[in-house]
This record gives sequence, structure tokens and C-alpha cells, in this order.
Amino acid sequence: MTVEEIGTVCVVGAGTMGAQIAQQVALAGYPVRLFSRSQTRLDEAVRSNAKLLGKRVEKGKLDAAECEASLARVTTHTDLAEAVRDADLVIESVAEDRETKRNICEQLNRHAAPAAIIASNSSTMASSFFADCIENDQRLLNVHFFNPALVMQLVEVVRGPHTSDETVDTCMEFVRRIGRTPVLVERETYGFIANRILFIAMQEAFRLVEDGYVSMEDADLAVKNGLNWPMGPFELADLVGLDITQDILSQGHLQTGEERWKPTPILTGRTAKGELGRKSGKGFYDYARS
Ligand code: 3HC
Repeated sequence: MTVEEIGTVCVVGAGTMGAQIAQQVALAGYPVRLFSRSQTRLDEAVRSNAKLLGKRVEKGKLDAAECEASLARVTTHTDLAEAVRDADLVIESVAEDRETKRNICEQLNRHAAPAAIIASNSSTMASSFFADCIENDQRLLNVHFFNPALVMQLVEVVRGPHTSDETVDTCMEFVRRIGRTPVLVERETYGFIANRILFIAMQEAFRLVEDGYVSMEDADLAVKNGLNWPMGPFELADLVGLDITQDILSQGHLQTGEERWKPTPILTGRTAKGELGRKSGKGFYDYARS
């Protein structure tokens, strides 16, 4: 599959990432099929994208007609076979659960065109985790977006041992065509590049606070003012979701065997109480009134 042959894109999963990935692809002019088992989730995704793009129109950053057209390019589907049938590129962005993703990959193998590229947005599972679910696995790889996908420039394209050069080249160029900056990860490694650096740095911040050296507010201030991160590590964990942060760290611990990834109580204590960050109204910080 060459990049010129990509006509329609299917995004599987309409959570925070899937919804915005679909919209970013549509902004570049591609028709997008957005799949979720839940119509409610799809409706939420459409509403949230319309609100975000609406703000861009208000600020004069996006033409109103282009906003409408790009929203209309995303169609919603609760039937996976129908959603992937005419897709040339499928980006799976379902829950970070191995069995869920393997099940989706098996269905993609059955219902997607045999030449369609299958890209996983997983941050914790390299595409080798699913290679046995996909015939012609030279078309399988990771294409990893960052949160919020409508804003963040970076997309990591990760070559698996099975991935063909053509699939890699097509995805690198596709990422450029949707207005993003691709980096090529030549071999699968836990956390790929950016998350490997980010989450280990976040662990350092968590430990500094846990060990009583600094408050989380001052740790965030230090990182924002001293390192020019747009958000401090605690604010960022609240944006990403404390459950997702914990999962990335736990998987790092499990997959590498390295202690440095092991989630610490400052995080696990909160996730156990359902304090998951912005999405639940409380994480490290309280969002109840914002
Ligand atoms: N979704 C979509 N767009 C959002 C958004 C969200 N949740 N939050 C803010 N934006 C948009 C705004 O609409 C605005 O867009 P516009 O300029 O086109 O109108 C733009 O982002 C700037 O927003 P604000 O002025 O309100 O706020 P900030 O300037 O503070 O920026 C931020 C917000 C873009 C989230 C910025 O703080 C930031 O870049 N934070 C760091 C994010 C980051 O590091 N992400 C990586 C996380 S790790 C990851 O994703 C890996 C995965 O595997 C877990």
C-alpha cells in the first residue's frame, strides 16, 4: 500500500485518543470511519470534536466551511465489519488491554481488505503482540499519537520485525500528510521514545514528592519554569489519566523487569480511590469547580 493508495481511514475506538485522531485525519481531507461498540461514546466524540474545532473557528484559526466539512468527513459506526470494509488504513485505538486488542486484530484480519495497513496506537504494546492475529503481518505496525492528538505534533512510527519497508514509508508519509511530525522507531522497545523519557521523568517527580522533598505544586512549578514543560508532571498525569499513567508504568515494570518503572503509592493510592485525573474530576488536583 502506497500513501497515494490511501483513500479511506478507519479509526477503531472512540475514546480520548481515537476521537481526536479521527478528527485530525479528517482535517487533512480523508474520509474517516470512526468505530465504537457504544453509540453514546461515538456521540460524545463527535460533540467534543465539534466543540474543539468550533473554538478554532471562533479564534479565526479555522475556516467555518472547513470546520463543517472536516466534521462531516467523520462517520460513526457500531458495526466493525462495516466500518473497516473500504478502509485502506486502520488505526486501532481501543483500551490498553491485550485481549481486547487481540480480539480487535482478529476481527480486523477477517473484515479489513487483505492489503489494508493495520496500525496500533498502543503505548504499551508493540505490534509484535498482535502479529499472529494478522495474516500478511508486513502491513502491521505501531503508529503512536500523543494526547491531545488534535494538538500534539509528534507521531511515533514503530517498525516491528514483521513490518515491510513499504508499510513504514507509507505511514511516515501519511503522518506528514495529516500535518504531524513522524519519527521512526527502528526496533520495538518498551515506551518507544517519548513515553520512555517522559514516564521515567514523571516517576522521579512522584518519588521526590513521596519522599517529602517538595510539594507536588512546587514540583510542577519547578518543571514548568526550569525545564519549560507546558505542564508539570502532576498536571500532565491528570491530563493523561492516572489509570493510564499507572498502566504505562506497570507494563514497563512487567515487560522490562526494571524496578524504575514500578508505580509508587502516590499514584496507586489515588487510582484505587477512582481519582483518575481530569476525566473523573479529581486526580492529583481537584477539577470539581473548573
Ligand atoms: N483536547 C484538544 N485540544 C486541546 C485540549 C484537549 N484536551 N486542551 C487544549 N487544547 C487545545 C486548545 O483548544 C487550544 O487550541 P487552539 O490554540 O487551536 O485554539 C490549544 O490546545 C492550546 O490550549 P490552551 O490555550 O487552552 O492551553 P495551553 O496553551 O495550556 O495548552 C496543552 C494545553 C496543549 C494541553 C499544553 O498544556 C500541552 O502541550 N501540554 C502537554 C501535553 C503532553 O505532554 N502530552 C503528552 C502526554 S503523553 C502521551 O500522550 C502518550 C500516551 O501514550 C499516553
